[in-house]
Amino acid sequence: MPNLFSPIKIKNIELKNRMVVSPMCEYSSVDGFANDWHLVHLGSRAVGGAALIITEATAVSTEGRISYGDLGIYKDEHIENLKRITDFVHQHGAYIGTQLAHAGRKASHDLPWNGGKQIPAGQPNGWQSVAPSALAFIDAEIAPTALDKAGIEKIKADFKAAAKRALAAGFDVIELHGAHGYLIHEFLSPLSNHRTDEYGGPFENRIRFLLEVIESVQEVWPKENPLFVRISATDWTEGGWTADDSVALAKVLINKGVDLIDCSTGGNVATAKIPVKPGYQVEFAEKVKKESGILTGAVGMITEPKQADEIIQEGEADLIIMAREFLRDPHFPLRAAHVLGQETKWPVQYERAKW
Ligand SMILES: Cc1cc2nc3c(=O)[nH]c(=O)nc-3n(C[C@H](O)[C@H](O)[C@H](O)COP(=O)(O)O)c2cc1C
Repeated sequence: MPNLFSPIKIKNIELKNRMVVSPMCEYSSVDGFANDWHLVHLGSRAVGGAALIITEATAVSTEGRISYGDLGIYKDEHIENLKRITDFVHQHGAYIGTQLAHAGRKASHDLPWNGGKQIPAGQPNGWQSVAPSALAFIDAEIAPTALDKAGIEKIKADFKAAAKRALAAGFDVIELHGAHGYLIHEFLSPLSNHRTDEYGGPFENRIRFLLEVIESVQEVWPKENPLFVRISATDWTEGGWTADDSVALAKVLINKGVDLIDCSTGGNVATAKIPVKPGYQVEFAEKVKKESGILTGAVGMITEPKQADEIIQEGEADLIIMAREFLRDPHFPLRAAHVLGQETKWPVQYERAKW
């Protein structure tokens, strides 16, 4: 029976354990460039024993950024600094993925520590956002422009160019950000997609944009390299995207060569009531895994070694993806090994601290 420290092979990588650093926006870039903050933030989690580290939402275009501080991969000049990070992570026995993202109608906002409000086009650091339909996320915001066919084609090309740069930068995994009310999720959900063309209406049409983005990425991303998709497995709202939709999508994605679905929830409806509690999204990882057969990652308030270990042992998910607990403790995997009585390799520099 696998446990938290069982290796797992996914295409051409073998993760040494099941612990993954979840994407976390740092809002610390200038014009999309990675810098020393990103090296230390991502690198320290490799030192701490995570098997796979996924970068924050990494914008495929300037207008696809949530804020002007987002990490980006929209120009070739970004590659060099990213490569420094992937090299460091590899030297410390971990793999690294990038979460390719377009913020859709949630673009052009201020940094969270400045209040995080929408910045209108025409103001410094502001631009007009785009989305499947001209529907604002909250009433107080300026509505996005509905994408036309040319706009959709441009974004597909942006994802493709970003994937090519990700390969050049040494990333092992691409995760497409299809969750949290950003562009791909906006197409998936009937609450944000009111289109009447081939990208809107029935399920088959609403998933079309994601499928086309996957195809664009696969033109340059090697078949042997893992491709993950993060989804919001439910909108937690009547009339929205559901867990059954997620299973139906997973069945399509598995045949498209997607390796794993990272099962988050929510983010597309500001008023949704989400029953947040420890492990509250694990049931979605379990349902998608069991009903479609695809590998899944569980995320959301997983904070304890025993809790994480049980999810793997019970076969509820294949990976444990953690965000805030990794901010509290970059060495969570080293601690988890101690708590669970498992052997794990420490960085030689830190061996004198081993429990
Ligand atoms: C600081 C911070 C930044 C985040 N940025 C992203 C992001 O860039 N992409 C994403 O998919 N989720 C993002 N999230 C959500 C996390 O990846 C994760 O899904 C969520 O925090 C729940 O997991 P946790 O309870 O382990 O923190 C962020 C969360 C935090 C705390």
